Amino acid sequence: MNISIQNIKPESLVLKYGTPLYLYDAAVIDRQIERMRNAFKGLPHRINYAAKALTNIAVLRHMKSRGLGLDVVSVNELRLGLECGFEPDEILFTSNSITMQEVKEAVELGVNVNIDSLSLLERFGEAYRGAKPCSIRLKLDPLIESHTKSAEWHKFSKFGIHHSKIGRVAEISRKYDLKIVGLHVHNSSAFLDVPVYLATADAMFEIAKKFNGLKFIDFGGGITIPFQPDEKAIDVDNLGEKLTQKTNSFYREYGERPEIWFEPGRFLVSECGWLLTRVTVIKENEKALFAGTDTGFNHLLRPALYGSWHEIVNLSNPTGKKRRYHITGNMCETDFLAHNRELSEIREGDLLAVKNAGAYGSCMASNYNSRVRPAEVMIRGGKAYLIKKKETYEDLLRNQVEVDW
Ligand SMILES: Cc1ncc(COP(=O)(O)O)c(C=O)c1O
Repeated sequence: MNISIQNIKPESLVLKYGTPLYLYDAAVIDRQIERMRNAFKGLPHRINYAAKALTNIAVLRHMKSRGLGLDVVSVNELRLGLECGFEPDEILFTSNSITMQEVKEAVELGVNVNIDSLSLLERFGEAYRGAKPCSIRLKLDPLIESHTKSAEWHKFSKFGIHHSKIGRVAEISRKYDLKIVGLHVHNSSAFLDVPVYLATADAMFEIAKKFNGLKFIDFGGGITIPFQPDEKAIDVDNLGEKLTQKTNSFYREYGERPEIWFEPGRFLVSECGWLLTRVTVIKENEKALFAGTDTGFNHLLRPALYGSWHEIVNLSNPTGKKRRYHITGNMCETDFLAHNRELSEIREGDLLAVKNAGAYGSCMASNYNSRVRPAEVMIRGGKAYLIKKKETYEDLLRNQVEVDW
């Protein structure tokens, strides 16, 4: 069992920075980047890291140093990207329910805006005519019959312009002489598998044939990694091979070779992150054995929000006798990190690692219960770097306004 990262023991970092602590392994990010690059090597492609998954500037700089572009979804994410050295043309701003003011700020900062409603496309056209290019976020109906729950979710998904409205996109772009340089789609990881990906690609390429001069076709993110030990993840090599064949036949028909873009978040950073937490109490109630910890859904929301499963390892007693525990947080709410999980015996004071916590972990953390957010450390080249300080009580007060009632 791997209980150190690049030969650094988590305990040594916890002694220095306390718990809870977010810990990231840059070597895992690099491994995942290489896996993607290798899978899509037959395509002229670009990988834009989805900044929202883990938005720390050290991580953004790491992605930049590895030659990636950036997918951003707010002007502040965009500004962080520029701050970290990304060039405007390496960033795609995917909008969702945003104002024209935000679009203008993004355009002024020099990035391409990805438009996801007919209404915004109309306003973009009025504002810029053909002077600024844009791309279109589409909503396609891929093959999701086998995922009944997700099919229902997909029907009500607010994202993108539905493919049935593509005629209106063409009309609006003719009316304003718009330059549409890219088409984009993002499928949820909840239903994304190779057949869905390829069905989406077919639909996308059909639509692409209606647009001249495309510079890119963007397949978004959604490629996930296995969370549970027996979970099947997308075979990226197989996907890469099949997508390459489809793309090449599209290129032959289209006569040009727009780049194929990807926007992975989870795939790149999920496995790199551990949330380290100290066990504060062991408690046995009538029916269950609880291990209470010093973290909770204020730091890792995914189990509470999505019921997501994260592997948990008892770093202090990895080979101890197995017992079943409910692992809870310290929120004043029902707050489980895991239900009825078999783990090596847990004692008060033990250090647990909650794995796959890199994506949508720290960036979704809050100050609920007036608890501070943890420090974050990244191990890169065999050295541990503090990349975010633990918040303080003063941070909780920083933006509150004292009123003398
Ligand atoms: C537009 C867009 N691109 C990329 C991503 C990244 O998705 P994932 O982390 O599943 O790869 C998301 C996630 O919500 C998204 O909305």
